[in-house]
Amino acid sequence: MRIAMIGAGYVGLVSGACFAEFGVEVTVIDTDTSKVAALREGRIPIYEPGLDRLVAENVAAGRLAFADDLDAGVRGAEAVFLAVGTPSRRGDGHADLSFVFAAAEQVARALTGPAVLVTKSTVPVGTGRQVREIVRAARPDLDIEVASNPEFLREGSAIGDFMRPDRVVVGADSERAREVLRRLYRPLYLIETPILFTAIETAELIKYAANAFLATKITFINEVADLCEKVGADVHDVARGMGLDGRIGRKFLHPGPGFGGSCFPKDTLALARTARDAGAPISIVETVVAVNDARKAQMAERVIAACGGSVSGKTVAVLGLTFKPETDDMRDAPALVVVPRLVEAGATVRAYDPEGAAVARPLLPAATRFAESALDAAAGADALVLLTEWNEFRALAPARLRAAMRGDVVLDLRNVYDPAAMRAAGFRYSSIGRP
Ligand code: UDX
Repeated sequence: MRIAMIGAGYVGLVSGACFAEFGVEVTVIDTDTSKVAALREGRIPIYEPGLDRLVAENVAAGRLAFADDLDAGVRGAEAVFLAVGTPSRRGDGHADLSFVFAAAEQVARALTGPAVLVTKSTVPVGTGRQVREIVRAARPDLDIEVASNPEFLREGSAIGDFMRPDRVVVGADSERAREVLRRLYRPLYLIETPILFTAIETAELIKYAANAFLATKITFINEVADLCEKVGADVHDVARGMGLDGRIGRKFLHPGPGFGGSCFPKDTLALARTARDAGAPISIVETVVAVNDARKAQMAERVIAACGGSVSGKTVAVLGLTFKPETDDMRDAPALVVVPRLVEAGATVRAYDPEGAAVARPLLPAATRFAESALDAAAGADALVLLTEWNEFRALAPARLRAAMRGDVVLDLRNVYDPAAMRAAGFRYSSIGRP
């Protein structure tokens, strides 16, 4: 079986490499010629654990190839996946579908035989139908079916998530589309992964509803954490006590500085807009968007308050810049709000991130300094803020940290450290939602 994957971004690269690992012949196509050239030389443009090896092995086995020529790349493909970006449109927050539609039309024109065009990008409800109209208009002579196959992988654990998902969702309204997708995902049947076949609109909505629900769960616990601080409760015990109820579940109840990343901020906003346009507003999701945005700004104010009301002339070490660990992705990361605010308030920010510095540098104020290690960032600092819970930060010995710093303020926005141990080391330590 041969397939093509349009878009060598996160989803396209990971899904392409994983399908190849399933034994399918995959061509990953991207218009960015320098990206394709890099991939052909074995250089992976994103940091994702295990991806470099998976790509190398499947390229060597002849199952995975990269192309910048879409027309040649889709020739002979039984299925073509659209994994192009759907950024938030400037101004109105709707998903920008221009890349999806342009790619769909170009694919239709390039196809030489019947194929299934599968949307993997997260797209608003109704996009699948529009894609079908576009391809039918472009190629009335050819039998092109459309399907929706939203992707639920998480950055940092993308390969495991793709290979052992909780479920696969396929929206399709033709037997041929269902049959092609069933064949592609055959290895998952062997591990008894539920594969849910639905209508196209339903599949599209599942993705948004799932992401918005998870984002709501995070926002809920973040606000409960703030309440814990006021009433002297411990948010981790609250989360555990809630999460042990099987109807609630324990995951995604970890408080923090607000969610970021390529999906939650964009998808919550898009769902809120879609729902309003459809005359069925989901006000809880609108609130989640607003509360989460405000939270990131509040985090900077927390730092300033922890430093006695001013950071002017002070050096603040910031550990972790990416929106979560095990990625170099900075999209909607809390650091993009917190660091500029601290710089504006007169602080010298010394930042360290294990993988994200290169991506972060052009996105942060020019005055931001970058350190080579966590201890280097902490050296001589008045305060230390932990923004992303990279594992290497967990291993920092409080006493060494204390000896490196000039001041004694630590603000742990991911609740990585043990409050008692930090206080024993002489820190004025605060975290999220813990007494
Ligand atoms: C998410 C979804 O999990 C995935 O299914 C979808 O396909 C894409 O979006 P991702 O953005 O890679 O994946 O990361 P995820 O681990 O879900 O974290 C998202 C954000 O929520 C991060 O900023 C993270 O720090 C935050 N988060 C997550 C919390 O603050 N608390 C939690 O308990 C979980």
